[in-house]
Amino acid sequence: MKISIKTEKEIEKMRVAGKLAAEVLEMIEPFVVPGVSTEELDNICYEHIVNVQKAIPANVGYRGFEKTICSSINQVICHGIPDKNRILKNGDILNIDVTVIKDGWHGDTSKMYLVGKCQPHNERLVKITQECLYKAIEVVQPGAYLGDIGHAIQQHAESNYYSVVEEYCGHGIGNVYHEEPQILHYGKPGRGIQIQEGMCFTIEPMINQGSKHCKTLQDGWTVETKDGRNSAQWEHTLAVTSRGVEVLTKRQEESL
Ligand code: MF3
Ligand code: CO
Ligand code: CO
Repeated sequence: MKISIKTEKEIEKMRVAGKLAAEVLEMIEPFVVPGVSTEELDNICYEHIVNVQKAIPANVGYRGFEKTICSSINQVICHGIPDKNRILKNGDILNIDVTVIKDGWHGDTSKMYLVGKCQPHNERLVKITQECLYKAIEVVQPGAYLGDIGHAIQQHAESNYYSVVEEYCGHGIGNVYHEEPQILHYGKPGRGIQIQEGMCFTIEPMINQGSKHCKTLQDGWTVETKDGRNSAQWEHTLAVTSRGVEVLTKRQEESL
């Protein structure tokens, strides 16, 4: 399949879906405290999307996944499964990743939450990973190359002595959850395809404190670092417009 170019009318629908996805991450924030289970957080997000937003949680039933959010704690890189027995504890770092479908269009976003008081090395990982996403967003404009995105992320991560997970990437998004192109989080400037007006895609870097290597657990979903050190991820859905880039999943706390 070719990369789909969205019309202004389609991007308007992506704006709606993106805003709803961002609102889920804002809504859940006060519930992210020591003592809550990741399944409770999942239930709250599900109810909000279905009953308040009148939208569809895209992860439910996606390739056999059964939950609304991915909840990835500490050494879990991505795709952590919400579980009633996984209780958040003081010092955990948690990624919540959610995708909402509204009127057939997708908004996909994730952020890190610091649970209680976290260690400085974990706070630093979370902050640098967010900077990786922001630096990547800054290079997005018509005519730039996908390799420019990967390079911005890799450069910032590695200059801070972190590594970039290579097995998972960002993706085109629209009326299909995961579509072309793949957005690699590493690369070289000027390489890969050129960014065009009307493209919509995610950038979602996963950055590790230790080595880049990962393993998938027996549950078939949970991806962890091989060395057991911590990992962080932030994700936004973007639209490329004549004005440059628009962050469709921007939260109120962000000045993008
Ligand atoms: N939201 C993830 C992404 O950023 C995909 C999650 S798929 C699931 O692309 F099935 F694990 F929910
Ligand atoms: Co995504
Ligand atoms: Co996501």
